[in-house]
Amino acid sequence: MYVLLVFIFVLYVIYRITKVAISEQIRDHAQLTDSSSYPNNINNNNNYNKLGPWAVVTGATDGIGKEYATQLAAQGINIVLISRTEVKLGNLATELNSKYGIQVRTVAVDFTSGPEIYPQLQLALEGLDIGTLVNNVGMTYDNPSYLHELDDLTCVKLLNCNILSATMMMKLLLPSMVRRGRGYIVNVGSMASEVSFPFLSLYAATKAFLDKISHDVGLEYGRHGIFIQSLVPACVATKMSHIKKPSFFAPGTEEFVRSAIASLGVSKRTPGYYSHKIQLVWFRFLRICFGSLFEKYNVTVMNRWRMIAKAKQERDSFLSVNNGSK
Ligand SMILES: NC(=O)c1ccc[n+]([C@@H]2O[C@H](COP(=O)([O-])OP(=O)(O)OC[C@H]3O[C@@H](n4cnc5c(N)ncnc54)[C@H](OP(=O)(O)O)[C@@H]3O)[C@@H](O)[C@H]2O)c1
Repeated sequence: MYVLLVFIFVLYVIYRITKVAISEQIRDHAQLTDSSSYPNNINNNNNYNKLGPWAVVTGATDGIGKEYATQLAAQGINIVLISRTEVKLGNLATELNSKYGIQVRTVAVDFTSGPEIYPQLQLALEGLDIGTLVNNVGMTYDNPSYLHELDDLTCVKLLNCNILSATMMMKLLLPSMVRRGRGYIVNVGSMASEVSFPFLSLYAATKAFLDKISHDVGLEYGRHGIFIQSLVPACVATKMSHIKKPSFFAPGTEEFVRSAIASLGVSKRTPGYYSHKIQLVWFRFLRICFGSLFEKYNVTVMNRWRMIAKAKQERDSFLSVNNGSK
C-alpha cells in the first residue's frame, strides 16, 4: 500500500513537471518567434549601433540604471541621464564623457511627481535621435505592510514613479522612434509580479502593469520596427535590494546588465540573467504543483518579515524619542 502511494505521488510530480516544462516551452517559443520577426535584433550581427546614437536611462545614477548607462556609453552611444540628484548626475556625466568620449546630457527630475514634469522632459529630449529608452526608475516601500497601512501620498508617489514614468516616457519617445522606423525600449519590472507578493502588493502590482503594457504596446509598435522588452529580474545587489554582496542568485549590476543587454532584441520578456531564469521556472513549478499551499507559505513568510520590520521600526522610534529627551 505504502509503495503504491509513493508510486502515485512520483507519477503526480512527473505529470506536474512535464506540464510546467511544456507551458514554458510554448511561452518561450512564442516569444522567440515573435522577436525573430524584428529587423533590428541586435544579436543578429552584434551591431550595437542599431541601438541608435542616443539612449535615455531613467533612474540612471545608481544600481541597474547606472550600469545600463555605463555599458551603453561603452558602446559609443550618447546618453541622457535622468534622476533626482544633480551632483550624482554631474559626476556620472563627467565620468562617462571622459572614459568613453561620448556626449552626455542630464535632467534632474523627481518621477514621484505627477504629469507636470513631462513637458520639461520633452523639451530636454527634443531634437535628439533617441534609439533606446531604458525605463528603469522604480521605488518600493521599505517595510512590508498591509495596503491600508500605506499613507495616501506614498501610494500616489509609487504609482507615479513606477507606472506613470514608464508610460509617459514611452508616449514621449515612440512618435520619433516610429518616424525613424527603429527603437528599443526596456521596461524594468520585477519577478515580484510573477509570484504572489503579499504585503508588498502595490509594488508588485505596478511591476505587473509594466509587464502587461510592454507586451501590448510592443504588439502595437512591433510592425514599426520597435522592440519593447519586459525585464523581470529577481534580486540584484543594489541599494534598493539592500544586498551588498553579489551572489549566485543576486548578481552584481555589471554581470546582470551585461546579460540583460545581450537579450535585447531577442527576448520580449525575460528575467535577464541565467540564475533568475532558474528561479522563475522554480517559482512556476511551485505554483503549479503546490498552488494554494505555496501561496499560504508566501503569506506566512512575508507576514513574519512584516512583523519583524514593524518591531524594529517601533524600537528605533522609541530609542530616538528617548535619546531626544535626554
Ligand atoms: N535591485 C533589485 O533587486 C531589483 C529587482 C527587481 C527589479 N528591480 C527594479 O530595478 C529598478 C532599479 O532598481 P535598483 O535596485 O537599481 O535601484 P537603486 O540602486 O536604488 O537606484 C535607483 C536609481 O533611481 C534614481 N531614483 C530613485 N527614485 C527616483 C525618483 N523618484 N525620480 C528620479 N530618479 C529616482 C536614483 O537616483 P536619485 O536617488 O539620485 O534620484 C538611482 O539612480 C527599479 O525599477 C526596481 O524596481 C530591482
